[in-house]
Amino acid sequence: MSQQVLVLPGDGIGPEITAEAVKVLEACRDQLGLDITLDEGLVGGAGYDAHGEPLPAQTLDKARAADAILLGAVGGPQWDKLPDLSKRPEKGLLGLRSNLKLFGNLRPAMLYPQLASASTLKPEVVSGLDIMIVRELTGGIYFGQPRGIRTLENGEREGFNTYVYTESEIRRIAKVAFEMARKRDKRVCSVDKANVLEVTILWREIMEEVAKDYPDVELTHMYVDNAAMQLVRAPKQFDVMVTGNMFGDILSDAAAMLTGSIGMLPSASLDEQGKGMYEPCHGSAPDIAGLGMANPLATILSAAMMLRYSLDQGDTAKRIEQAVSEVLDEGLRTADIMSEGMTKVSTSQMGDAVVQALLKA
Ligand code: NAI
Ligand code: MG
Repeated sequence: MSQQVLVLPGDGIGPEITAEAVKVLEACRDQLGLDITLDEGLVGGAGYDAHGEPLPAQTLDKARAADAILLGAVGGPQWDKLPDLSKRPEKGLLGLRSNLKLFGNLRPAMLYPQLASASTLKPEVVSGLDIMIVRELTGGIYFGQPRGIRTLENGEREGFNTYVYTESEIRRIAKVAFEMARKRDKRVCSVDKANVLEVTILWREIMEEVAKDYPDVELTHMYVDNAAMQLVRAPKQFDVMVTGNMFGDILSDAAAMLTGSIGMLPSASLDEQGKGMYEPCHGSAPDIAGLGMANPLATILSAAMMLRYSLDQGDTAKRIEQAVSEVLDEGLRTADIMSEGMTKVSTSQMGDAVVQALLKA
């Protein structure tokens, strides 16, 4: 049976960049025999404008029925002043993550050699960089109870959150990381703060336990403060990094910036069955929306991740990634990655070039 892909363009540049990823998916379907069906839905500000909800019921129904979801981005200044926080576009994303139980967040940070000059770090430090950060997305201190701000007996106020992980939560994210490492360089670095936080002592213990099922994968441990230093000092030492929600939030943004080009970075959020939502790491870029300037490659690379991790089409995923590398070799650049001597192209020209490179192969 044909696999169902739900496309949620969202807001700002979302519709422009997802249109290019859809072109690529349609080319795979029509010319390369990929058996998928594409449907569309509204989310974020677009959902609010049409139905009064950032995650309309019909969108959630479609998302539940789909095998995978490709999302553009949500948000923009026109919705920033909505007094009811539950109607904000970002709630559409959070609603999808929690309703679909997307606990496993994959954030690759890889540097295309053609774009080495975009990084703020020295080329020899970052060239060839290829890290996969696996972040737990639905637990940890961001969701732990109890939480709040309370008044103590002496009248002083105290803010508090709870950092909790159950063994099963740790085990399932560990499995995601080890499975990932098997498809890559067979190394997992687990990041914790086991010298200070009990919850991460348990984290470390469970990582060791799961590692026994993956004798072909090497497991190391690193404290989060050292991991931050090492990411900036010698990032190429890492293959797969696995960590909790909060540490992963911070480290994945830092790792992403090592590459210097936000328009190039895809991401995935997976559930226990391997169903996932795929989206670029960047936001809706309202400053350039509608101008045909946005870089669609992060979204196209997200579609490739979707084929690899949710639709079991790793070969087609690789072809898409090679096509992206080829258009960079040809010197084609959207404005955000433009440099001297290169050819500046629009959003849709970039998408067309990827399709062409894909079909030429
Ligand atoms: P942003 O990522 O949208 O933009 C930051 C800068 O990068 C801007 O100058 C933008 O023009 C540029 N940029 C981003 N993506 C680009 C692309 N594909 N091609 C070329 N340039 C690109 O982050 P910002 O400005 O903080 O947020 C804008 C809106 O996006 C806000 O409403 C925010 O809430 C939302 N947002 C949504 C996210 C999501 O849907 N996952 C994630 C981050 C922000
Ligand atoms: Mg973040």
